[in-house]
Amino acid sequence: MRSLRFQFVGFVAALLILLLVLLNTYPIISSRDAVFEEKLSSLPGRASAVASSLSSLDKLSRESVAEVLRFLDVSGFARIVVVDHAGLVVYDTGGPTGSQTDIGDILRALENSKTVFRSVFSGKAFSSSMVTPLSAEGTITGAVYLYEYDAERAEVIFSFQNRLRALSIGIAVFALATVGIFSALIMRRLQELVRSMRAVAAGDYGHRHVIKGQDEIAELGEEFNLLTERLESTEQQRRRFVSDASHELKTPLASIRLLSDSIVQNEDMPPDTVREFVTDIGNEAQRLQRTTEKLLELSRLDDNTVKFSPEPVDVKQAALDALVFLRPLAKEKQVHIKSELDEGCVVMASQDHMFQIIFNLIENAIKYNVPEGSVTLSLKGLEDGVELSVEDTGIGIPEEDRPQIFSRFYRVDKARSREAGGSGLGLSIVHDAVSAYGGSITVEQNKPQGSRFIVRFPRPTSEETGI
Ligand SMILES: Nc1ncnc2c1ncn2[C@@H]1O[C@H](COP(=O)(O)OP(=O)(O)O)[C@@H](O)[C@H]1O
Ligand SMILES: [Mg+2]
Repeated sequence: MRSLRFQFVGFVAALLILLLVLLNTYPIISSRDAVFEEKLSSLPGRASAVASSLSSLDKLSRESVAEVLRFLDVSGFARIVVVDHAGLVVYDTGGPTGSQTDIGDILRALENSKTVFRSVFSGKAFSSSMVTPLSAEGTITGAVYLYEYDAERAEVIFSFQNRLRALSIGIAVFALATVGIFSALIMRRLQELVRSMRAVAAGDYGHRHVIKGQDEIAELGEEFNLLTERLESTEQQRRRFVSDASHELKTPLASIRLLSDSIVQNEDMPPDTVREFVTDIGNEAQRLQRTTEKLLELSRLDDNTVKFSPEPVDVKQAALDALVFLRPLAKEKQVHIKSELDEGCVVMASQDHMFQIIFNLIENAIKYNVPEGSVTLSLKGLEDGVELSVEDTGIGIPEEDRPQIFSRFYRVDKARSREAGGSGLGLSIVHDAVSAYGGSITVEQNKPQGSRFIVRFPRPTSEETGI
């Protein structure tokens, strides 16, 4: 693994090197150039003053040159050489010179009758040389070579360079230390987060990351905690579901086992009793079948990979279909059914799910009702959708149970529900199916008694209905 920390420090170091190289070269180069510039503007003037004085001489000789120079201020020059037109040295103060190329400069100056200037920086000094031709009445009589050795200014630049270097080292050490410490702190926090993630990944869903600070890493930690919370609750739900489901399946299986055991063990059981027991076994099996079918339906609704292809469904037609099946039950329970159904309420859903939603709600309204009670089914078209309400005058749902009513296997009165053949899964299916098509379901108390379930579906777009 390429540590983020090394990448970060590496990047900063590269940037720093670039900056420091610039800091150590650019000011030196430009101040050196400024000195060259200054030499170029001051030396030629001084040289031409010397040259014009020497040009007035009729004859160039050691003595005559020395005579002229005595009256000029030539103290700034380290060496002065005067040559005649043939390049032969007439006068030489002796002392240091610049490089060998200066001889070439003298010859060139004589040949082209032009001034040749040269200035170099050796690190210790600025060596500047200048050859100016001497002329009298248009002919070249010789040339004067002036050499200047300026160590003073070189010294200034040199100490400037040293100071810059010391400063650079200081900056580099400080910057690297700061970046190192800063990245170490960040890395420590990231590693803590990774440790928390590993703990949760290993199954410790109760683990919560300790949040420090208010920056992006803290935000990451908060998001992670939220995610863990969700995971924990999903995990809890899953466990509860598995245990509820096994419990739900265990009961009918135990009855079947008991009934069949008694038949097997009791050899001279009267045929009528045997028939009765087998009928009971059949009922229990049927109950198991219903529960498993509902569980399958729920897991299909739960599965995000299963794509439902909704079609326009006429809700009134689905309600009428459900009523056909439920009227006998209502009659048996002495419950009156009233309905008030608007035309043209179309919803994007599957026929089958719409039927199940309405069937389950009306079935509950009948089952959990009282003799001579009533069920009112009404369907209305709203501005932005469709509203279906199922109202009953039955036993009602205690307020504290209402939030859980759509949970799997949840029943207010287990005995009554089981007696009525219920599994506690009907409302879960209703809820999930309604949500699958973008709808919502709520439950409230019906006055003076009973419950009212209200389902709302969004209005299909004209694109969906194809109208
Ligand atoms: N209309 C209603 N009136 C009173 N209680 C109801 C009504 N509808 C549902 N319930 C309660 O909600 C529980 C869950 O309903 P449901 O999921 O359909 O399961 P089931 O009908 O199989 O028991 C029922 O057991 C019952 O206690
Ligand atoms: Mg039910």
